[in-house]
Amino acid sequence: MQALPRVLCSSEASSPAMPPTTTRAQGVGLLGCGTVGSGVARRLLASHPGLIRAIAVRDPRKPRDVAWDDFASDAFDVVDDPGVRVVVECIGGLGLARELVLRAIARGKDVVTANKDLIATEGPWLAAFAARTGASLRYEAAVGGAIPIVRALHGSLANEDVIEIGGVLNGTTNFVLDAMEAGAEYADALAEAQRLGFAEADPRSDVDGHDAAHKLAILAGLAFRRPSVSPALARRGIGAISRDDVRAGAERGLRLKLVAVARRAGDAIEAGVTPAYVADDHPFARARGAENVVRVLGRGCGTLVFSGAGAGGDATASSVVADVLAALSERERLVAFNGADLVARPLRIPLLVRFAEGSVITSDAVSLDAMEAAARGFGGRGVVRSVIPVWRDAA
Ligand SMILES: NC(=O)c1ccc[n+]([C@@H]2O[C@H](COP(=O)([O-])OP(=O)(O)OC[C@H]3O[C@@H](n4cnc5c(N)ncnc54)[C@H](OP(=O)(O)O)[C@@H]3O)[C@@H](O)[C@H]2O)c1
Repeated sequence: MQALPRVLCSSEASSPAMPPTTTRAQGVGLLGCGTVGSGVARRLLASHPGLIRAIAVRDPRKPRDVAWDDFASDAFDVVDDPGVRVVVECIGGLGLARELVLRAIARGKDVVTANKDLIATEGPWLAAFAARTGASLRYEAAVGGAIPIVRALHGSLANEDVIEIGGVLNGTTNFVLDAMEAGAEYADALAEAQRLGFAEADPRSDVDGHDAAHKLAILAGLAFRRPSVSPALARRGIGAISRDDVRAGAERGLRLKLVAVARRAGDAIEAGVTPAYVADDHPFARARGAENVVRVLGRGCGTLVFSGAGAGGDATASSVVADVLAALSERERLVAFNGADLVARPLRIPLLVRFAEGSVITSDAVSLDAMEAAARGFGGRGVVRSVIPVWRDAA
C-alpha cells in the first residue's frame, strides 16, 4: 500500500482554515459531463434541483444534452468551492482525475467516482487518506455499472466468508464475443461495438482484459477484505480469439466469455482474467451483449448472482447518484480494506487445446501463466491452433 502524501495529509488536510465541510455545505461539484457525467447531471437536476453547484468540463462550449448554462473550465476551482461538499469525479484516468480526488479528500470533501482505474490501483490508500481527513470515498459505479455489487459486498455481505467472486465484468468484450458467436469476425465485431458506443476509440483496456482486471481487483479487495490482488492478477485478452475458436466451443455446447474470477485456494487467493469456454447453462453465460454478471459464492450466503447493465451513461449514473445521496446523508461510510494479507496466485483452470486435427480438454487444471507450456506438452498431436481455458466451478 502506498504511503499517504505528506504534503496533503499533514498541513493542508488538518489546516484550521479548512474545517470539515459536513456542517456547512450541501452542494455537489460535478467533474466531467461526458457519457456518465451527463447522466448524473440530468438525473440530479431532475430529482434534486439546486443540489448541483458547479459542473467542470474540458470544453465549456461543446453542445450537451444537459440543462446547465455555466460550465466551468477549471475543475480545481470546483473542488475548492466552499459550497461544494460532494465532489463527483466523472473524468476518468489516473492523471488529472487523481489530482482532483486527492485535492477533494485533502479538503475533507466526500468523493464519489466511477473511476475503476483509480480505485483498483489506489483505492485502499485513498480510503485510508479519506478516513484521516474526515472525507469519504464511494465508488459503486466503478464496477458493474448499475449493478449494486460494491454496496452489497460492503453492507449485506460484510460478514460473509466469501469463497469466490467474479464473472463477466466487461461489456465491450462480451458484446464482441456475442457478435462473433453470431458469425462476425473479431475486427468487424469490434468495429460494430465502437459504432454503437460500447467500445472506445482505443479499445485496448477492454480487449486486453485491463478493465476486467481492475474491476476484479476492486471486488476481490472488498470480498476478501485485503488491500488488492491486482499485482498478482494473471490477465489474457480476447485479441487472439478467432471465429473458429467460437465455433469449436459452440460444437460442444460452450460459449466464449471473458471470465474474471478470484477464489480461495487453501491459504491463497487464485485470481485471473481470461477468455474461457463456459457451459451454455452456467450463470456466466447469461451475460448478453454489453451486460455484466457477478457471482458471489459464500459459506453462509451460498450462490448469489447479480446481472444487468454493466456500463452506459444512464445505468452508471444511477449508481453514482445513489452514492451522492448516501454521502449527503452520511450513510455507509466506506473504510479502507485492512484484512489479513493472503497470498495471490494465477487462476488454475482446465484447457481446451485445439490442433489442426482434433482437440483435447486437459484433465488437470493449469495455471493461467503456464498455458502455452501445457499446450506444448501435447507436441505429438501436431500444430496447436489455440489453447483456451474451459470454466469449471470448483467442486
Ligand atoms: N462510459 C461508461 O459506460 C462507464 C461505465 C462505468 C464507469 N465509467 C467510468 O466513468 C468515468 C467517465 O467515463 P465517461 O465514459 O463518462 O468518459 P467521457 O464520456 O470521455 O467523459 C469525460 C468527461 O471528462 C471531461 N474532462 C476531460 N478533461 C477535463 C478537464 N481537464 N477538466 C474538466 N473536465 C474534463 C470531458 O469534458 P468534455 O466533455 O468537454 O470533453 C468529459 O465531459 C471513467 O472513469 C470511466 O471508466 C464509465
